[in-house]
Amino acid sequence: MRSRLVALALVLAVPALALPASAAPRGQDAPKGHHHVRDLRDLARKNGIRIGSAVDAAVLRSEADYRRVLNREFTHLTAENAMKWESVEPERGVFTWDDADAVVENARRNGQQVRGHTLIWHNQLPAWLTSGVADGSIGPAELRTILRDHIRTQVGRYKGKIRAWDVANEVVDDEGNLRQSIWLEHLGPGYLADAFRWARQADPRAKLYLNDYNVEWNQGKIDRYLALVKELQAQRVPIDGMGFQGHLGIQYDYPAGWADVMRSFADLGLEIAVTEMDVRMVLPVTPEKLATQAEYYSRALADCLSVKACREFTVWGFTDRHSWVPGWFEGEGAACILDEDLRPKPAYHALLATRRR
Ligand code: G3I
Repeated sequence: MRSRLVALALVLAVPALALPASAAPRGQDAPKGHHHVRDLRDLARKNGIRIGSAVDAAVLRSEADYRRVLNREFTHLTAENAMKWESVEPERGVFTWDDADAVVENARRNGQQVRGHTLIWHNQLPAWLTSGVADGSIGPAELRTILRDHIRTQVGRYKGKIRAWDVANEVVDDEGNLRQSIWLEHLGPGYLADAFRWARQADPRAKLYLNDYNVEWNQGKIDRYLALVKELQAQRVPIDGMGFQGHLGIQYDYPAGWADVMRSFADLGLEIAVTEMDVRMVLPVTPEKLATQAEYYSRALADCLSVKACREFTVWGFTDRHSWVPGWFEGEGAACILDEDLRPKPAYHALLATRRR
Protein backbone atom coordinates (compact mmCIF):
# COMPACT_ATOMS: atom_id res chain seq x y z
CA MET A 1 0.00 0.00 0.00
CA ARG A 2 2.72 2.36 1.08
CA SER A 3 4.78 1.83 -2.06
CA ARG A 4 1.72 2.22 -4.26
CA LEU A 5 0.99 5.59 -2.67
CA VAL A 6 4.58 6.70 -3.01
CA ALA A 7 4.46 5.83 -6.68
CA LEU A 8 1.22 7.71 -7.10
CA ALA A 9 2.60 10.75 -5.33
CA LEU A 10 5.75 10.70 -7.44
CA VAL A 11 3.72 10.63 -10.61
CA LEU A 12 1.73 13.55 -9.31
CA ALA A 13 4.74 15.52 -8.17
CA VAL A 14 5.97 16.56 -11.58
CA PRO A 15 2.84 18.09 -13.10
CA ALA A 16 1.97 19.70 -9.80
CA LEU A 17 5.23 21.57 -9.59
CA ALA A 18 4.86 22.80 -13.14
CA LEU A 19 1.37 24.20 -12.77
CA PRO A 20 0.89 27.95 -12.73
CA ALA A 21 -0.88 29.38 -9.70
CA SER A 22 -4.11 30.25 -11.40
CA ALA A 23 -4.53 27.04 -13.36
CA ALA A 24 -3.81 24.30 -10.91
CA PRO A 25 -6.93 23.24 -9.09
CA ARG A 26 -9.36 23.87 -11.91
CA GLY A 27 -11.00 21.19 -14.03
CA GLN A 28 -9.24 20.55 -17.28
CA ASP A 29 -5.83 21.64 -16.02
CA ALA A 30 -5.72 19.09 -13.24
CA PRO A 31 -3.48 16.06 -13.76
CA LYS A 32 -5.09 13.06 -15.43
CA GLY A 33 -6.84 10.44 -13.35
CA HIS A 34 -8.78 12.67 -10.99
CA HIS A 35 -10.03 15.43 -13.29
CA HIS A 36 -13.50 14.81 -11.98
CA VAL A 37 -12.58 16.15 -8.52
CA ARG A 38 -12.22 19.88 -9.11
CA ASP A 39 -10.94 21.16 -5.80
CA LEU A 40 -11.12 20.43 -2.08
CA ARG A 41 -14.70 21.66 -1.79
CA ASP A 42 -15.64 19.23 -4.52
CA LEU A 43 -13.71 16.46 -2.75
CA ALA A 44 -15.52 17.30 0.50
CA ARG A 45 -18.90 17.22 -1.19
CA LYS A 46 -18.26 13.95 -3.03
CA ASN A 47 -17.09 12.24 0.17
CA GLY A 48 -19.66 13.73 2.52
CA ILE A 49 -16.97 15.20 4.75
CA ARG A 50 -15.93 18.69 5.80
CA ILE A 51 -12.51 19.87 4.67
CA GLY A 52 -11.16 22.76 6.67
CA SER A 53 -8.20 24.99 7.29
CA ALA A 54 -6.85 27.02 10.15
CA VAL A 55 -7.09 30.73 9.36
CA ASP A 56 -4.73 33.52 10.30
CA ALA A 57 -7.14 36.39 10.94
CA ALA A 58 -4.63 39.14 10.17
CA VAL A 59 -3.71 37.55 6.86
CA LEU A 60 -7.37 36.99 6.03
CA ARG A 61 -7.76 40.74 6.27
CA SER A 62 -4.62 41.75 4.40
CA GLU A 63 -4.07 39.21 1.60
CA ALA A 64 -6.70 38.94 -1.12
CA ASP A 65 -5.13 35.88 -2.77
CA TYR A 66 -5.05 34.02 0.57
CA ARG A 67 -8.72 34.89 1.06
CA ARG A 68 -9.63 33.78 -2.44
CA VAL A 69 -7.98 30.36 -2.15
CA LEU A 70 -9.31 29.80 1.38
CA ASN A 71 -12.85 30.43 0.29
CA ARG A 72 -12.53 28.51 -2.94
CA GLU A 73 -11.14 25.38 -1.33
CA PHE A 74 -12.50 24.97 2.19
CA THR A 75 -15.86 24.18 3.74
CA HIS A 76 -14.74 24.55 7.36
CA LEU A 77 -12.59 27.08 9.24
CA THR A 78 -10.68 27.14 12.52
CA ALA A 79 -9.21 30.39 13.86
CA GLU A 80 -5.51 29.60 14.27
CA ASN A 81 -5.08 31.97 17.22
CA ALA A 82 -7.99 34.43 17.28
CA MET A 83 -10.25 32.49 19.65
CA LYS A 84 -7.59 31.65 22.20
CA TRP A 85 -7.96 33.22 25.63
CA GLU A 86 -5.04 35.68 25.31
CA SER A 87 -6.54 36.87 22.02
CA VAL A 88 -10.11 37.42 23.23
CA GLU A 89 -9.43 38.78 26.73
CA PRO A 90 -5.89 40.24 26.81
CA GLU A 91 -6.77 42.30 29.87
CA ARG A 92 -9.21 41.23 32.48
CA GLY A 93 -12.69 42.28 31.39
CA VAL A 94 -11.40 43.78 28.12
CA PHE A 95 -12.68 41.67 25.26
CA THR A 96 -11.23 41.86 21.75
CA TRP A 97 -13.44 39.88 19.44
CA ASP A 98 -12.60 41.56 16.12
CA ASP A 99 -10.36 38.81 14.73
CA ALA A 100 -12.56 35.96 15.95
CA ASP A 101 -15.64 37.72 14.59
CA ALA A 102 -13.88 38.21 11.24
CA VAL A 103 -13.28 34.46 10.88
CA VAL A 104 -16.89 33.65 11.78
CA GLU A 105 -18.19 36.33 9.41
CA ASN A 106 -15.99 35.06 6.59
CA ALA A 107 -17.46 31.61 7.16
CA ARG A 108 -21.01 32.92 7.11
CA ARG A 109 -20.45 34.72 3.82
CA ASN A 110 -18.79 31.72 2.18
CA GLY A 111 -20.98 28.87 3.35
CA GLN A 112 -18.35 27.45 5.70
CA GLN A 113 -18.75 25.93 9.16
CA VAL A 114 -16.47 26.78 12.07
CA ARG A 115 -14.50 24.88 14.70
CA GLY A 116 -13.99 26.95 17.85
CA HIS A 117 -10.41 26.65 19.11
CA THR A 118 -10.04 26.56 22.05
CA LEU A 119 -11.72 27.10 25.44
CA ILE A 120 -9.22 25.47 27.79
CA TRP A 121 -5.52 25.19 27.11
CA HIS A 122 -2.33 25.55 29.10
CA ASN A 123 -0.84 27.83 26.41
CA GLN A 124 -1.73 31.30 25.18
CA LEU A 125 -3.43 32.24 28.43
CA PRO A 126 -3.53 35.97 29.17
CA ALA A 127 -0.80 37.28 31.50
CA TRP A 128 -3.34 38.74 33.92
CA LEU A 129 -4.64 35.24 34.52
CA THR A 130 -1.37 33.34 34.84
CA SER A 131 0.29 36.00 37.00
CA GLY A 132 -2.82 36.34 39.19
CA VAL A 133 -2.79 32.61 39.82
CA ALA A 134 0.98 32.61 40.39
CA ASP A 135 0.96 35.43 42.95
CA GLY A 136 -2.09 34.05 44.71
CA SER A 137 -4.30 37.07 44.03
CA ILE A 138 -6.62 34.71 42.11
CA GLY A 139 -7.53 31.79 44.36
CA PRO A 140 -9.13 28.47 43.33
CA ALA A 141 -12.75 29.56 43.86
CA GLU A 142 -12.27 32.69 41.81
CA LEU A 143 -10.35 30.77 39.16
CA ARG A 144 -13.28 28.41 38.75
CA THR A 145 -15.67 31.34 38.34
CA ILE A 146 -13.32 32.95 35.82
CA LEU A 147 -13.21 29.74 33.78
CA ARG A 148 -16.99 29.34 33.90
CA ASP A 149 -17.53 32.94 32.80
CA HIS A 150 -14.95 32.59 30.03
CA ILE A 151 -16.72 29.57 28.61
CA ARG A 152 -20.18 31.08 28.98
CA THR A 153 -19.12 34.35 27.40
CA GLN A 154 -17.25 32.89 24.44
CA VAL A 155 -19.53 29.98 23.63
CA GLY A 156 -22.55 32.21 24.19
CA ARG A 157 -21.24 34.87 21.84
CA TYR A 158 -21.01 32.39 18.99
CA LYS A 159 -24.04 30.30 19.85
CA GLY A 160 -25.39 28.72 16.68
CA LYS A 161 -22.34 29.81 14.67
CA ILE A 162 -19.77 27.25 15.80
CA ARG A 163 -20.27 23.66 14.67
CA ALA A 164 -17.76 22.16 17.08
CA TRP A 165 -15.72 23.47 20.00
CA ASP A 166 -12.32 22.23 21.12
CA VAL A 167 -13.44 22.49 24.73
CA ALA A 168 -10.23 21.08 26.14
CA ASN A 169 -6.97 21.15 24.23
CA GLU A 170 -3.92 19.01 25.05
CA VAL A 171 -5.00 18.05 28.58
CA VAL A 172 -3.04 14.77 28.60
CA ASP A 173 0.76 14.76 28.45
CA ASP A 174 3.02 12.41 26.48
CA GLU A 175 3.41 10.12 29.51
CA GLY A 176 -0.33 9.54 29.57
CA ASN A 177 -1.05 11.63 32.67
CA LEU A 178 -3.47 14.50 32.97
CA ARG A 179 -1.31 17.47 32.03
CA GLN A 180 -0.05 19.74 34.78
CA SER A 181 -1.65 23.14 34.30
CA ILE A 182 -3.18 25.88 36.37
CA TRP A 183 -6.49 24.11 35.83
CA LEU A 184 -5.43 20.72 37.16
CA GLU A 185 -3.33 22.21 39.93
CA HIS A 186 -5.93 24.61 41.31
CA LEU A 187 -9.27 23.09 40.31
CA GLY A 188 -8.49 19.37 40.32
CA PRO A 189 -9.46 16.94 37.53
CA GLY A 190 -13.14 17.86 37.87
CA TYR A 191 -12.47 21.00 35.82
CA LEU A 192 -12.95 18.96 32.66
CA ALA A 193 -16.47 17.80 33.53
CA ASP A 194 -17.36 21.35 34.55
CA ALA A 195 -16.02 22.80 31.32
CA PHE A 196 -17.98 20.47 29.07
CA ARG A 197 -21.17 21.08 31.08
CA TRP A 198 -20.76 24.85 30.94
CA ALA A 199 -20.14 24.69 27.21
CA ARG A 200 -23.23 22.55 26.66
CA GLN A 201 -25.37 25.00 28.61
CA ALA A 202 -24.06 27.92 26.56
CA ASP A 203 -24.68 26.28 23.17
CA PRO A 204 -26.62 23.01 23.34
CA ARG A 205 -26.12 22.28 19.64
CA ALA A 206 -22.36 22.68 19.32
CA LYS A 207 -20.34 19.45 19.25
CA LEU A 208 -17.98 19.39 22.19
CA TYR A 209 -14.51 17.96 21.64
CA LEU A 210 -11.31 16.90 23.32
CA ASN A 211 -8.36 17.67 21.05
CA ASP A 212 -4.70 16.67 21.18
CA TYR A 213 -1.52 15.76 19.29
CA ASN A 214 0.31 12.41 19.24
CA VAL A 215 -2.96 10.58 19.92
CA GLU A 216 -2.39 9.22 16.42
CA TRP A 217 0.20 6.78 17.82
CA ASN A 218 1.24 7.31 21.47
CA GLN A 219 -0.34 4.33 23.23
CA GLY A 220 -0.09 5.80 26.72
CA LYS A 221 -1.88 8.91 25.56
CA ILE A 222 -4.45 6.90 23.62
CA ASP A 223 -5.25 4.73 26.65
CA ARG A 224 -5.53 7.73 28.96
CA TYR A 225 -7.91 9.48 26.57
CA LEU A 226 -10.06 6.39 26.15
CA ALA A 227 -10.26 6.07 29.94
CA LEU A 228 -11.00 9.77 30.31
CA VAL A 229 -13.84 9.62 27.80
CA LYS A 230 -15.35 6.62 29.61
CA GLU A 231 -15.04 8.40 32.97
CA LEU A 232 -16.72 11.51 31.59
CA GLN A 233 -19.47 9.48 29.94
CA ALA A 234 -20.07 7.57 33.20
CA GLN A 235 -20.65 10.95 34.84
CA ARG A 236 -23.01 11.92 32.02
CA VAL A 237 -20.71 14.72 30.93
CA PRO A 238 -21.67 15.96 27.46
CA ILE A 239 -18.75 15.03 25.23
CA ASP A 240 -19.25 14.54 21.51
CA GLY A 241 -15.93 14.26 19.79
CA MET A 242 -12.24 13.40 19.72
CA GLY A 243 -9.96 15.63 17.68
CA PHE A 244 -6.66 14.33 16.35
CA GLN A 245 -4.39 17.24 15.58
CA GLY A 246 -2.27 15.30 13.09
CA HIS A 247 0.98 17.27 13.23
CA LEU A 248 3.22 14.83 11.36
CA GLY A 249 6.73 14.95 9.91
CA ILE A 250 8.11 12.86 7.07
CA GLN A 251 11.26 12.09 9.10
CA TYR A 252 9.04 9.89 11.27
CA ASP A 253 7.08 6.84 10.14
CA TYR A 254 3.48 7.46 9.23
CA PRO A 255 1.31 6.37 12.21
CA ALA A 256 0.06 3.19 10.61
CA GLY A 257 -2.46 2.37 13.32
CA TRP A 258 -4.23 5.73 13.18
CA ALA A 259 -7.48 4.49 11.62
CA ASP A 260 -7.77 1.83 14.31
CA VAL A 261 -7.24 4.46 16.98
CA MET A 262 -9.95 6.61 15.42
CA ARG A 263 -12.25 3.59 15.47
CA SER A 264 -11.60 2.92 19.14
CA PHE A 265 -12.90 6.41 19.97
CA ALA A 266 -15.75 6.09 17.49
CA ASP A 267 -16.72 2.86 19.27
CA LEU A 268 -17.36 4.96 22.37
CA GLY A 269 -19.93 6.90 20.37
CA LEU A 270 -17.73 9.88 19.58
CA GLU A 271 -17.48 11.88 16.40
CA ILE A 272 -13.93 12.05 15.03
CA ALA A 273 -12.10 14.95 13.40
CA VAL A 274 -8.62 15.53 12.09
CA THR A 275 -8.22 19.06 13.37
CA GLU A 276 -4.71 20.39 12.63
CA MET A 277 -3.16 18.30 9.89
CA ASP A 278 0.24 19.25 8.57
CA VAL A 279 3.29 17.32 7.46
CA ARG A 280 6.61 19.03 7.98
CA MET A 281 9.99 18.11 6.54
CA VAL A 282 13.63 18.88 7.15
CA LEU A 283 14.59 21.53 4.60
CA PRO A 284 15.57 21.81 1.81
CA VAL A 285 12.54 20.65 -0.11
CA THR A 286 13.15 17.92 -2.69
CA PRO A 287 10.73 16.17 -5.08
CA GLU A 288 11.18 12.96 -3.07
CA LYS A 289 10.25 14.68 0.18
CA LEU A 290 7.23 16.28 -1.44
CA ALA A 291 6.16 12.86 -2.68
CA THR A 292 6.44 11.38 0.81
CA GLN A 293 4.55 14.34 2.22
CA ALA A 294 1.82 13.80 -0.36
CA GLU A 295 1.59 10.15 0.69
CA TYR A 296 1.21 11.13 4.36
CA TYR A 297 -1.57 13.62 3.63
CA SER A 298 -3.36 11.12 1.44
CA ARG A 299 -3.06 8.31 3.98
CA ALA A 300 -4.40 10.58 6.72
CA LEU A 301 -7.43 11.52 4.64
CA ALA A 302 -7.93 7.88 3.64
CA ASP A 303 -7.79 6.88 7.32
CA CYS A 304 -10.41 9.48 8.16
CA LEU A 305 -12.62 8.42 5.25
CA SER A 306 -12.36 4.79 6.35
CA VAL A 307 -13.99 5.62 9.69
CA LYS A 308 -17.63 6.49 9.39
CA ALA A 309 -17.56 8.77 12.44
CA CYS A 310 -14.73 10.92 11.00
CA ARG A 311 -16.59 14.00 9.85
CA GLU A 312 -13.92 16.67 9.38
CA PHE A 313 -10.42 16.88 7.94
CA THR A 314 -8.79 20.22 8.72
CA VAL A 315 -5.30 21.37 7.77
CA TRP A 316 -3.34 23.70 10.07
CA GLY A 317 -2.88 26.39 7.47
CA PHE A 318 -3.02 25.73 3.75
CA THR A 319 0.01 27.63 2.46
CA ASP A 320 3.71 27.51 3.28
CA ARG A 321 3.55 31.31 3.17
CA HIS A 322 1.94 31.23 6.61
CA SER A 323 2.72 28.21 8.74
CA TRP A 324 3.63 27.83 12.38
CA VAL A 325 6.25 25.17 11.56
CA PRO A 326 9.40 27.17 10.64
CA GLY A 327 9.02 29.28 13.77
CA TRP A 328 8.86 26.23 16.01
CA PHE A 329 11.12 23.61 14.44
CA GLU A 330 14.51 24.91 13.37
CA GLY A 331 15.44 23.81 9.87
CA GLU A 332 11.99 22.39 9.13
CA GLY A 333 9.11 23.72 7.10
CA ALA A 334 7.13 23.30 3.87
CA ALA A 335 4.41 21.53 5.85
CA CYS A 336 1.34 22.69 3.92
CA ILE A 337 -0.47 21.57 0.79
CA LEU A 338 0.14 24.77 -1.20
CA ASP A 339 3.50 26.48 -1.57
CA GLU A 340 4.34 30.08 -0.67
CA ASP A 341 2.90 31.32 -3.95
CA LEU A 342 -0.31 29.38 -3.33
CA ARG A 343 0.61 26.83 -5.97
CA PRO A 344 -0.67 23.33 -5.25
CA LYS A 345 2.01 20.90 -4.09
CA PRO A 346 1.88 17.16 -4.74
CA ALA A 347 0.07 16.82 -1.41
CA TYR A 348 -2.83 18.88 -2.73
CA HIS A 349 -3.23 16.64 -5.76
CA ALA A 350 -2.80 13.53 -3.63
CA LEU A 351 -5.73 14.68 -1.48
CA LEU A 352 -7.89 15.21 -4.57
CA ALA A 353 -7.00 11.69 -5.71
CA THR A 354 -7.81 10.07 -2.36
CA ARG A 355 -10.81 7.79 -2.33
CA ARG A 356 -12.85 6.18 0.41
CA ARG A 357 -11.49 2.66 0.97
O1 G3I B 1 0.46 38.18 18.46
C1 G3I B 1 1.87 38.37 18.35
C2 G3I B 1 2.16 39.51 17.45
O2 G3I B 1 1.65 40.68 18.02
C3 G3I B 1 3.68 39.61 17.24
O3 G3I B 1 3.94 40.56 16.26
C4 G3I B 1 4.25 38.26 16.77
C5 G3I B 1 5.75 38.27 16.66
O4 G3I B 1 6.29 36.97 16.72
O5 G3I B 1 3.87 37.26 17.67
C6 G3I B 1 2.48 37.11 17.77
O6 G3I B 1 2.09 36.03 18.55
C7 G3I B 1 2.36 34.77 18.02
C8 G3I B 1 1.05 34.07 17.69
O7 G3I B 1 1.31 32.74 17.28
C9 G3I B 1 0.28 34.77 16.59
O8 G3I B 1 1.01 34.74 15.40
C10 G3I B 1 3.12 33.98 19.05
O9 G3I B 1 4.39 34.55 19.24
C11 G3I B 1 3.26 32.54 18.64
O10 G3I B 1 3.77 31.82 19.76
C12 G3I B 1 1.90 31.96 18.29
O11 G3I B 1 2.09 30.63 17.86
C13 G3I B 1 0.92 29.85 17.75
C14 G3I B 1 1.02 28.64 18.67
O12 G3I B 1 -0.12 27.81 18.50
C15 G3I B 1 1.13 29.07 20.12
O13 G3I B 1 1.23 27.97 20.95
C16 G3I B 1 0.80 29.37 16.33
O14 G3I B 1 0.55 30.49 15.47
C17 G3I B 1 -0.35 28.36 16.18
O15 G3I B 1 -0.32 27.79 14.91
C18 G3I B 1 -0.17 27.27 17.22
O16 G3I B 1 -1.28 26.41 17.11
C19 G3I B 1 -1.26 25.25 17.95
C20 G3I B 1 -2.71 24.92 18.25
O17 G3I B 1 -3.36 26.04 18.81
C21 G3I B 1 -2.81 23.71 19.20
N1 G3I B 1 -2.08 22.58 18.67
C22 G3I B 1 -0.71 22.83 18.29
C23 G3I B 1 -0.64 24.01 17.30
C24 G3I B 1 0.75 24.22 16.81
O18 G3I B 1 1.61 24.62 17.84
